[in-house]
Amino acid sequence: MEAPKLHVVTFGCQMNKYDSLLVEGRFATKGYVTTDSLDEADVVLFNTCSVREHAEERTWSWLGELKRAKETRPDLVIGVMGCMAQRVEEKVFKRAGHVDIVVGTRRFQHLPEMVEELRARREEGGAKGARLLDTGGDGGVEVDRQGEDWIGGNHGFLAVMRGCDLNCTYCIVPTTRGRVRSRGIAELVREARWMVDQGVQVITLLGQTVNSYGEDFPKPGPGDPMGTGRQGRVSLGDLLRSLQEIEGLKRIKLITLHPSYVTPNFAQAVADCDKVERSLPLPMQSGSDRILKAMKRGYTTALYHERVAMLREAVPEIELGSDWIVGFPGETDEDFEQSVQGLRDVGFLTNYVFKYDPRPETRSADGMPDDVPEEVKKERNQRLLRASEEQALARLKALIGAEVEVFVEEASERVEGDLVGRTRTGVSVHFTGDASWIGREVPVRVERATAYGIGGVPIEAEA
Ligand code: SAH
Ligand code: SF4
Ligand code: F3S
Repeated sequence: MEAPKLHVVTFGCQMNKYDSLLVEGRFATKGYVTTDSLDEADVVLFNTCSVREHAEERTWSWLGELKRAKETRPDLVIGVMGCMAQRVEEKVFKRAGHVDIVVGTRRFQHLPEMVEELRARREEGGAKGARLLDTGGDGGVEVDRQGEDWIGGNHGFLAVMRGCDLNCTYCIVPTTRGRVRSRGIAELVREARWMVDQGVQVITLLGQTVNSYGEDFPKPGPGDPMGTGRQGRVSLGDLLRSLQEIEGLKRIKLITLHPSYVTPNFAQAVADCDKVERSLPLPMQSGSDRILKAMKRGYTTALYHERVAMLREAVPEIELGSDWIVGFPGETDEDFEQSVQGLRDVGFLTNYVFKYDPRPETRSADGMPDDVPEEVKKERNQRLLRASEEQALARLKALIGAEVEVFVEEASERVEGDLVGRTRTGVSVHFTGDASWIGREVPVRVERATAYGIGGVPIEAEA
């Protein structure tokens, strides 16, 4: 019999990409193969995002497209997972009656069993009443991947924590991802070692607020000062130090940090662990204290700058990236100018800018009028992006003529024969070279720069 085929469509952040890989792995252990072709698939899954309205609209329109396919192939199983599934739950069935399964952000690991159950129910009683919904649970997502065949190449994701205990007023994520749950260090190290045994050299540690890792563990009691005997109160710093020891692992990346959890311990761990990429996403969101307060971000610009100063003292070469929301309720021209200034003052190298979008049942949507006109949001968005490009270009141009060590990550998808890598500070580098260099450090002389990366020639080739 031919192997059943799975097709997964993924929206949203890196955590969703990782969850899609986890799901593919779960299905693979049941004999499924993944296909790029929707037409060939027996099971189609949508891994959805709710962070902005646009992300949800795209899912609905994709789901709409599948209605016809389901009519001609009634055996097809259609599942919806991810943040939108968690948020709208059974309303998915109401709006897209051809969907069979809706599964939440802490339950998707059980999808293969759900598909089996669905099929059994269909055999018993026909298609009617055979829908499955599971959005419960607030535990962690423990998936033992060791039985899987690795298909991911030299890069692997590892979700070290899930959920968010903060309550930024604009954000849907605490609703869709739930409370913070961290995985134990021992399991994480075991999974990382397994990935490295499969040929992985770069691991990206994921979490909605990745540096709050461990905050949910119980504090070690007075009779147990080191936390031995039970899960001690370990932090991301401890995890980094353990991963640093793994032979064969070359780089560790982190996504995404929150300023409130940038501690001296974390800064010191980054300084001590040379495998940790010297580039950290540390969203500031706004440069105006008034707006930060309305967002309930939990810091002022002064505190943000203090945390950055602490990081830079420990790791002088560190580069930072930020996310920004423009057009938050009540944002004046003056508030916005402070964001432009904040971007320049910190010298963020990468910036993602979003126009404020009121999300259902968030505090800003319910209590603050969305009063910045769309035109103004657009203008501010473009201005902030331009400010980002100007300063990134100036900073990267300054590297022309310099020699940089590049960790070669992969062959370029755009230019045949080109390689793509990153400096230790996370700057993207394009150059022509041999595919056998992938996974190695190569010295490159910088010859050109854009706002998004640099290019050059490998120094070995020059000689
Ligand atoms: N946990 C991360 C962010 C996750 S959401 C953090 O705290 O930084 C990714 C980004 O989407 C956010 O950083 C924010 O800039 C943006 N975002 C979240 N909710 C939004 C909304 N309602 N409107 C516009 N942008 C939003
Ligand atoms: Fe959302 Fe704020 Fe949590 Fe980030 S820290 S996920 S922006 S609530
Ligand atoms: Fe989207 Fe959920 Fe990630 S809302 S950004 S998929 S955490």
